[in-house]
Amino acid sequence: MELDIQRLIGERAKENVDLHAAHVNPQFAKVLRTIGFDKSWIRGQGPYLYDTDGREYLDMLSGYGMFNVGRNHPKVKKILSDFLAMDHASLVQMEAPITSGLLAEELKKRVPSSLDTVYFTNSGTESNETAIKFAHCATRRPRIVYCHHAFHGLTNGSLSINGEEFFRSGFSPLLPDCTPIALGDLAALNAELSRGDVAGFVLEPIQGKGVHVASDEFLRGAAECCRKHGTLFILDEVQTGFGRTGKLFAMEHSGVVPDVLLLSKALSGGYVPVGAVMTRREVFLKVFTSMERCVVHSSTFGQGAFAMVAGLAALSVLDEEKLVENAQRMGGLLFSGLEQLKERFELIQEVRGKGLMIGIEFGRPKSFTLRMGWDLAHKMSSSLFGQAIVIPLLADHAIVTQVSGHGIDVVKLIPPLVITERDVDRFLTAFEQVVEKAHHFPGPVWEVTSRLAKFALKR
Ligand SMILES: Cc1ncc(COP(=O)(O)O)c(C=O)c1O
Repeated sequence: MELDIQRLIGERAKENVDLHAAHVNPQFAKVLRTIGFDKSWIRGQGPYLYDTDGREYLDMLSGYGMFNVGRNHPKVKKILSDFLAMDHASLVQMEAPITSGLLAEELKKRVPSSLDTVYFTNSGTESNETAIKFAHCATRRPRIVYCHHAFHGLTNGSLSINGEEFFRSGFSPLLPDCTPIALGDLAALNAELSRGDVAGFVLEPIQGKGVHVASDEFLRGAAECCRKHGTLFILDEVQTGFGRTGKLFAMEHSGVVPDVLLLSKALSGGYVPVGAVMTRREVFLKVFTSMERCVVHSSTFGQGAFAMVAGLAALSVLDEEKLVENAQRMGGLLFSGLEQLKERFELIQEVRGKGLMIGIEFGRPKSFTLRMGWDLAHKMSSSLFGQAIVIPLLADHAIVTQVSGHGIDVVKLIPPLVITERDVDRFLTAFEQVVEKAHHFPGPVWEVTSRLAKFALKR
């Protein structure tokens, strides 16, 4: 029988978690059920998600930061369907695709002129793998320096520069010669780089895990230190790129220009996996040294036409709808609203980030009973408190958020850049109510932590 995809998905939409438990990732299915995220999503529009019961949710997670232009943007959809209608000859391989040439041209218009050559990848981790290889090859040096708490992806090379033991554990041996330093520790960076054997220093301008912001001073110092010691300065803007922080790229806040810029996530508007590595021609030509080595680093799906067209479409929407400016404005509103809540609620310790990449850190309260609840919850697990905020936000207020990292009490907001003042108000009102409830111990928010801890113990 001919496949009717709309009918198939429509009829079986509610089987999603069962199918995952049976065939895909049973542990993840269990987590979703435990925290009440076992929804059957049926539609997405802009910053909203809809489940099979027709309930509308505000998406403050945007697919881990890739739906910057919002879900199913009509202009992106139109451009993609126009392109599909062309029956274009994609991935001939022995060719120079027009689509990747056009996207490279557009990307170059938006970054400093020294980043004049583009290598296309399929994901954020592949952009990082590429940077590691390019750095080794271009400098002929063995070491890579990275930061504690860094997240650059989970394939072997990227994992070797991951700053969390949680992710690394069980996967050794990883790449040798990768050295962590603390984010912001210029003296440590200088000490490592002055040994003269460091190929590249890789960092996120704002770390995705925990939302730790690299200061302008550190970024400028690091760029200078790399230049002095002949180390490639590699900025991973996979998450901070394409308007997320209120500038098109986070590097613009400090004015640093990296030797290598890593991109992915929002580049395709969330439709197709895509990534890009932008570097100086000189670095590129140290890797691709001859005609014989012209594809010495490559991948079958790299420069896929659909991904390239999605990139062109997403960039044009970011421009036309002034979404970078909107990210800055909405980020400002969220920040000031959250700062006001911080003054009122002792559990909120810090609000940090830039634009629409915001981390809300909770901390041990001063008042006696609340502190008892905090200590109890943290004795059960160091990772549960954030979930006690995220779970009621979803269940009671239909807002999707996430906990940012393991063993920390940070809730992270990375909504689509299309959110409006109404969405900001909706979030702040809901968040206020959840945090207000969390200030009553014992109370329903704290019950969430003990329920989760019991689940964890049972496992
Ligand atoms: C800064 C950063 N780099 C790299 C990655 C890895 O990207 P991907 O999941 O596409 O491999 C991520 C993913 O969250 C990221 O935030």
